Amino acid sequence: MSKKFVIAALLLAGGAVYFLAGMPRKATTPLADFTVPFVYGHFQVPKENPLTKEGVALGRRLFYDPRLSGNNEISCATCHQQALGFTDGLKASVGASGVPLSFNSMALTNLLWGPQRFFWDGRSVSLEDQALNPIQHPDEMAQDLDALMDELAEDETYKALFDTAYGGISPEAVAMALASFQRTLVSANSRYDQYLRGEISLTPEEEKGRKLFMAHPDAKVAQKGGNCIDCHSQFLTSGFSTALDGFSNNGLDGEDGLLPGLSAVTGKAAHRGFFKTPSLRNIAVTAPYMHDGRFDTLEEVLDHYDSGIKDSSTLSPLIVEADNQPLDRRQRGQISLNLTADEKKAIIAFLHTLTDEDFLTDPRFSNPFEEEAGDDAR
Ligand code: HEC
Ligand code: HEC
Repeated sequence: MSKKFVIAALLLAGGAVYFLAGMPRKATTPLADFTVPFVYGHFQVPKENPLTKEGVALGRRLFYDPRLSGNNEISCATCHQQALGFTDGLKASVGASGVPLSFNSMALTNLLWGPQRFFWDGRSVSLEDQALNPIQHPDEMAQDLDALMDELAEDETYKALFDTAYGGISPEAVAMALASFQRTLVSANSRYDQYLRGEISLTPEEEKGRKLFMAHPDAKVAQKGGNCIDCHSQFLTSGFSTALDGFSNNGLDGEDGLLPGLSAVTGKAAHRGFFKTPSLRNIAVTAPYMHDGRFDTLEEVLDHYDSGIKDSSTLSPLIVEADNQPLDRRQRGQISLNLTADEKKAIIAFLHTLTDEDFLTDPRFSNPFEEEAGDDAR
């Protein structure tokens, strides 16, 4: 084999890797106005899919485009609506087939932090990996990927956008663009954020709720605990990002009713009934609640944590031992926070401070096709 041939073959192989990794072929622009609060901590963007202005703009367009579905009627935004914190207000989402899905739509907020596994049961390992799932799922968007590639190639605008951002149209590029757009969905201007920055103070009721939210129950201290922060951690109020720490069983079902949850992914019986601990940001607008949308209101959620916990072999130890009563006054087998009606109301008032109106109306996250139609009308 000649030396020249070997080098050419190596270059070709290198080129293939280069293309698969989806490196931009043309000059792209780093996202200039992307800032995140320092207190949210460390986050990672995959090296092979850096945030670029072009990639994000393309992802936004794809997210809102019903042509991504087989019947050209369902877009990502059908089930992930900005005004509802990128959820859909339904108990179980309905897509192309009209058959309700098994799960409640998930909010798409601050996805750069929190558990770096996606879906309620964590079966997807990255946003890139996640994106092609709903497109092909028969009950979601029911689209054939080859047909989609052809459809996109017929559209001059898409052709130009894909060429610039990813050097051409491919399923990988679709996934990378959708992931990039979703990474920019950062919510950081709720009243709680303004409070953290020292710009406002909370009302006495919200402050009481904040303290309850942040405290672990301990009968030895005067401050009662609501226990929430043990799982909905730190400023982000989502589960921990390390390993599988962001998944747990929060007592929705007893032993017999436990769904596989995370155990379907890990194969471990100890993970039965484990689901992703979602961020509570914008929680006041994302009803109904939990993986199956079983609770319509935050009042029902608080009643659950206070007195509705169902015991099982995988129930989180953080809940088992969470009780505000001294040991000798506890009834055996009964798990309860023993909160008063006022205390539950205070926690709900605090949860409302997590609503970020700027995020819910930010034009950068809105439907670009409506924006374009508006431009044309002008
Ligand atoms: C028919 C409704 C529907 C459509 C359409 C839909 N989704 Fe979803 N989405 C859901 C539901 C329901 C879940 C939770 C599903 C599960 O856990 O199995 C979800 C979960 C997600 C998650 C995981 C979030 C997390 O925190 O783990 C992401 C990301 C996401 N969707 C993005 C998208 C994108 C991108 C599209 C378009 C390509 C899309 N979705 C289309 C209903 C939908
Ligand atoms: C042991 C960990 C744990 C504790 C403690 C905990 N949560 Fe949760 N929370 C979860 C998990 C896990 C889920 C998702 C469960 C599911 O859907 O199966 C969840 C879901 C929720 C939801 C619904 C989110 C959505 O998008 O549907 C709300 C609201 C909520 N929790 C509020 C609270 C409040 C308020 C407290 C304190 C009173 C609290 N949680 C304490 C783990 C916990």
